[in-house]
Amino acid sequence: MSDRSHLIFAGKPFQFDAERDAEFEHLVKRYPTRESMILPALWLTQEQEGWVPAEAIAYIADRIGTFASMVYEAATFYTMYNLHPVGRNHICICRTLSCWLRGKQEIVDYLANEIGIRPGQISEDGRFSLEEVECLGHCGTAPVVQINGEFHENMDVEKLKQLLAGLR
Ligand code: FES
Repeated sequence: MSDRSHLIFAGKPFQFDAERDAEFEHLVKRYPTRESMILPALWLTQEQEGWVPAEAIAYIADRIGTFASMVYEAATFYTMYNLHPVGRNHICICRTLSCWLRGKQEIVDYLANEIGIRPGQISEDGRFSLEEVECLGHCGTAPVVQINGEFHENMDVEKLKQLLAGLR
């Protein structure tokens, strides 16, 4: 599991691009308080960059008019936010009870042995990254894997092999 208490700097200033900037301004009108925009703003950041660099925390706090610590707390609490760069295909595997009991470790071991990635890592070619996350809300069809935001249920190694083969 990757460390969720440390943010990583991208080493360049962050700001929303024109599309995300317009989306931010559109969304902010729909929320009762500007603080409510923390999660959507983090999501916009991740859409744009693929992850949430440390520079974005201060930027979001400034845009919203709140403390950077509040943005940091939200970003580090929810595992849906990537706090480090990810591969072109980001694989999240649920590690909570149902998925654990129904074989998530076989999938994690396959990815470690065949693709060469453990949770928190990116493959050398940048094609895949892996994260273990908390319950993805589909416990009845465990084990569950999310690839680039898309859910795949009743997963096993054979199904995963086929899925990964179809990704660039
Ligand atoms: Fe894995 Fe809920 S325990 S989806």
